[in-house]
Amino acid sequence: MLTDGLNINEKGHLTIGGCDTVELAETYGTPLYVMNEEVIRQALRAYVQSMETYYPQGGRVAYASKACCFLEMYRIAAQEGCGADVVSGGELYTALRAGMPAERLYFHGNNKPEGELRMALEAGVGRIVVDNPAELRRLSSIAQDMGSTAAILLRVTPGIDAHTHQFIRTGQIDSKFGLTLENGEALAAAREALSLPGIDLKGFHCHIGSQIFDVDPFAHAADVMLRFMARVRGETGATLTELNLGGGFGIRYTDRDQPKPFGAYMKQVSAVMSQTAAELDFPLPFIILEPGRSVAAPAGITLYTVGAVKSIPGVREYVSVDGGMGDNPRYALYKAAYTVVAANRMREPNTRVMTISGRCCESGDLIQENVPLPDCEHGDILAVLGTGAYNYSMSSNYNRLPRPAVVMVMDGTSRVVVKGETYEDLIRNDV
Ligand code: LLP
Repeated sequence: MLTDGLNINEKGHLTIGGCDTVELAETYGTPLYVMNEEVIRQALRAYVQSMETYYPQGGRVAYASKACCFLEMYRIAAQEGCGADVVSGGELYTALRAGMPAERLYFHGNNKPEGELRMALEAGVGRIVVDNPAELRRLSSIAQDMGSTAAILLRVTPGIDAHTHQFIRTGQIDSKFGLTLENGEALAAAREALSLPGIDLKGFHCHIGSQIFDVDPFAHAADVMLRFMARVRGETGATLTELNLGGGFGIRYTDRDQPKPFGAYMKQVSAVMSQTAAELDFPLPFIILEPGRSVAAPAGITLYTVGAVKSIPGVREYVSVDGGMGDNPRYALYKAAYTVVAANRMREPNTRVMTISGRCCESGDLIQENVPLPDCEHGDILAVLGTGAYNYSMSSNYNRLPRPAVVMVMDGTSRVVVKGETYEDLIRNDV
């Protein structure tokens, strides 16, 4: 199967974490997000272990919670010894409420409102990742006003094209994120940060994109950043000790995707960094990795019930499901590829090529096109694989569709970790 933890049982049904998906659909209703706890934990452990094995200076895994954010995700990350990347007051609040130790949090964002900066300082978040000079100055005055000091990293745009979908590429020069390395903006900000009251500059951050399979751009980014740290030392005398290398590791959405094991990434990055550190006589920094998608996506599937099947002879065949862009906007946004299977007909041959359409009043509300499937009919259960990241976290109530529940499975048992929204939830804030 495409990802770990998926199987087919004697009834010909898809199973996840030892649970029959058709039974999950019956028990909890559809649409339904299902996440395999074991797969999440294994991914976090693989990252932690890859650092222990290959990177002598040590580091931290900060789960990028924008990928999938609810209390239980932070609890799992905390239990695995990880921290988290949070990018808004809402994510910060959820992480703190989940009991994630504040000092393990990295607070990101290219435009953090003042209230959120204060909230972060009050909570004692580990590092605020400052995006731009205006924010740096604002944070300095807020910290002084609060009588505290902000421990920060500066987000640098290292100018690396990671050959990924242009909407989710964030490392190149034309980016709304971070301080440009090439035109001296990053160095100037470092200089200023070192001199500003209320600011304790610990190091730098970069993130070169998402769904990247090649290890080379990551290794190149690490090299560029380490050289920059040595340059900062040369220009200012300050030897900074932390380097956050962001996330972006690709996952297998379809058979065409071939991600490398995390160990291969860390091995190459570590080798390049050790060589550069020796060449520059610069101490290896403590590193932070921020995987999001690669932790959450492979763990998740979404279950839908088939409504209508519509055949337009000579054109195409549509299968309408009871969810859509409200719970998974990624095809509508990015034409994102997914593997879709008929969860209750796993042993039947694929005889049709179908377009999976959602239930929103929007022609572009598609989950996937040209999917090989067995003959489907009303009541069948479709499973979209690899939906654990950027689905629930990007969901909306468009057309006033309540968000589906999230169920966590492990070793043949299931439990609700996010309740499905009710109609009452939908009107909660209406006055
Ligand atoms: N760190 C930073 C600073 C980031 O901006 C991101 C993702 C990550 C870490 C985690 O990257 P990951 O390991 O998940 O690739 N909505 C898009 C993805 C946007 C990613 C934004 N930043 C999608 O659905 O593909």
